[in-house]
Amino acid sequence: MSAVGAGASPPPDLSALAWTILEDNDRGQYSVPTGGLYPFQWNWDSCLTALGQARRHEARAWTEIATLMEHQWPDGMVPHIIFHQQDDSYFPGPDVWGTGRPVATSGITQPPIAGFVMRRLFERARDQGLAQEHARALLPKVAAWHDWFYANRDPAGTGLVAIVHPWESGRDNSIDWDEALARVPDEGVAPYVRKDTSHVDHAQRPTKAEYDRYLWLVQHFRSLGWDNAKIHDASPFQVVDPGLNAILIRSADDLAWLAETLGEPALADRQKHHAEKGRAALESLWSEDHGQYVCFDRVSSAPVDSAAIGGILPIFAGIPDPARFSALVARLRLLLSRARFATASHDPADPRFDGLRYWRGPAWLIVNYLLVDGLLRAGEGDLARRIIDSSLALTKNGDLSEYYDPHTGQGLGGGHFSWTAAMVLEFLELQEG
Ligand code: DGY
Repeated sequence: MSAVGAGASPPPDLSALAWTILEDNDRGQYSVPTGGLYPFQWNWDSCLTALGQARRHEARAWTEIATLMEHQWPDGMVPHIIFHQQDDSYFPGPDVWGTGRPVATSGITQPPIAGFVMRRLFERARDQGLAQEHARALLPKVAAWHDWFYANRDPAGTGLVAIVHPWESGRDNSIDWDEALARVPDEGVAPYVRKDTSHVDHAQRPTKAEYDRYLWLVQHFRSLGWDNAKIHDASPFQVVDPGLNAILIRSADDLAWLAETLGEPALADRQKHHAEKGRAALESLWSEDHGQYVCFDRVSSAPVDSAAIGGILPIFAGIPDPARFSALVARLRLLLSRARFATASHDPADPRFDGLRYWRGPAWLIVNYLLVDGLLRAGEGDLARRIIDSSLALTKNGDLSEYYDPHTGQGLGGGHFSWTAAMVLEFLELQEG
């Protein structure tokens, strides 16, 4: 008998499995993150999924982003959900948002990762003609989205944008939002029935108290007619997230690079200006106590006492100060030493850490990917490889879930997940290369 023993199943072919997931979740012009739990197009899910799609089907990958940008609002905002078709398996659906768009959308946005993804697709393109055509068409739209962020979510011109709803950060129920969210009223929310907890164990999802406030904010913005010129100042929730700002800065850098390459110098200069101003302003979020960046609550005018992964994501934006960069690397190493798998979305040493509950502790492959990219660019190859190996170890049994318990490696949230599949393809390539 072999050492493996009779009955032991061979390890799954991760690449084949990732492709199956991408195909199963493909709705033709866009992809769903996973059927049931998220049956529509989500903004940053789509962009990151396109990275995987492009490894085989470049045209399909560009279409993913083009479809998203077709639903940009006239003011430049790109919504976080596009409700392409009717599906009752998700709440809150189009009726709750009431944004009045020709194709229904939500009324808030999500981390603007499209600029970064576009540059990556462009640089890797086997079909340069196709890449040029798509990049040229998308460039002014993504630039208008970045401009929208700075005009509407940074009305005082600080260089840093705020989120007005936890969902805009992409890290929906992070501990980062607890204090600010506690100030959001929960009275007057229309009765509702959640659907997420019929797909996923409630212990892995946000609480009812959080959902009440998520919905209060949606109702409030709806009562303002979704007028982004009013929403920032009228929101009781305004938090500056270093994670979202880092993604915006990096996308502005990458869009500037694309604009220069495509002979659009004025557009390039404006994006460069956003990125440089944002990078300088990010320094105001540094916390000596935590050795990383932290959020800033604009309503209470105070830093947020929470050391979440969003405060390490500036690695992805390129930190000019070597001492700050080294401190972030040290912080990342500490997080890796405190959990078996990379990378806990919140410090396991914090009593508020919860290894099962969505963004309050679990590890996410997309976050690992952004960290790996920043580390590789800064020459931290060893640490990057550790995160790549750990990410693939999480999926080696064929479980391509939405997120994972960083202590046990258990897959959590939705299964058969598009962006996890895309990240597996990316990590496999990085591991080989
Ligand atoms: C959800 O419904 O949990 C989504 O993350 C909100 O965008």
